[in-house]
Amino acid sequence: MATPGVFLISAFVFAFAAANIGGALSYTRPPPRQTLSVPLADDLDSNSPQQVHVSLVGEDKMRISWITEDRAPAIVEYGTSPGVYGSSAMGNTSSYKFITYKSGKIHDVVIGPLNPNTVYYYRCSLDSSRAFSFKTPPAQLPIKFAITADLGQSGWTNSTLQHIAASNYDVLLLPGDLSYADLLQPQWDSFGRLLEPLASQRPWMVTQGNHEIEKIPVIHPHAFTSYNARWHMPFEESVSDSNLYYSFDVASVHVVMLGSYTDFDPQSAQYAWLQADLGKVNRSRTPWLVVLIHAPWYNSNTAHQGEAESDNMRKLHGRVDL
Ligand SMILES: *[C@@H]1O[C@H](CO)[C@@H](O)[C@H](O)[C@H]1NC(C)=O
Ligand SMILES: *[C@@H]1O[C@H](CO)[C@@H](O)[C@H](O)[C@H]1NC(C)=O
Ligand SMILES: *[C@@H]1O[C@H](CO)[C@@H](O)[C@H](O)[C@H]1NC(C)=O
Repeated sequence: MATPGVFLISAFVFAFAAANIGGALSYTRPPPRQTLSVPLADDLDSNSPQQVHVSLVGEDKMRISWITEDRAPAIVEYGTSPGVYGSSAMGNTSSYKFITYKSGKIHDVVIGPLNPNTVYYYRCSLDSSRAFSFKTPPAQLPIKFAITADLGQSGWTNSTLQHIAASNYDVLLLPGDLSYADLLQPQWDSFGRLLEPLASQRPWMVTQGNHEIEKIPVIHPHAFTSYNARWHMPFEESVSDSNLYYSFDVASVHVVMLGSYTDFDPQSAQYAWLQADLGKVNRSRTPWLVVLIHAPWYNSNTAHQGEAESDNMRKLHGRVDL
């Protein structure tokens, strides 16, 4: 068995880690590339499933999430042979409004139980024009995580996605800053289309960053409207009362996804949840414990340095026996 370990991963660690792996002593951030906006493909219409992505639910289930512009049934058909869909499941449809924007129909279906390390073929909303497949993660180590953050949608995102696609990973972890839609809701749809080739094939597990807040005083006072509607993570299964923090087990790893931008003081629901969640960890079953968060507790990057979300959570949660 591998040596048990605890990792605290925050969004800004990665650029730094990547630079070190490359042997660089100092890192100069390259200039931005153009912003991408991915339209609906010509061969799709308002009934077509789009922005398909999948995420883990418990140890043997998967949530399939997708959007249709028009009403369509929240049904996923699936099986282990291409084009043969012996099983099916139904789920829920929701939508949201953001000032003048009205989202498409957001569908969420949980399927399973599924076998580990197995390719499943599936289709959404009974639509026979689009066929998808994903691979479930292995039940035991080794497991390969791809980790990215601050993804956005630019030429660099495209390059990052190509690297991720080439890595043959099992599960993607993304601790915040997804679309950089920054209030422009159609950019969330564009982001969903940009990711679909990858996010429909492997589970993508995310938590929020500051760009997911999208709150405007008076006009749109509710935070995380789009994020919560589009990226339903398995918080119910980890006994969390909020989609903004949750945990899950995969292979021999307990992964904790924390929320930098919701309450985390010792009186908060998140703090109580984290204590209870860590208390339930069985280090024989999951010797590896990985914690992800957007605002880093320790930081050599100027972004987020010294912010309340970084420093205060370190001071307050430092008392939790991580
Ligand atoms: C659909 O909604 C019901 C009621 O809120 C909930 O119990 C159920 O888990 C949901 N199903 C999915 C697939 O999210
Ligand atoms: C991403 O890069 C590939 C290869 O360079 C290119 O073919 C593709 O059009 C790019 N995608 C977008 C959305 O720009
Ligand atoms: C912890 O996990 C091990 C291995 O699965 C199991 O044998 C043991 O009973 C578990 N301990 C508790 C307290 O559940």
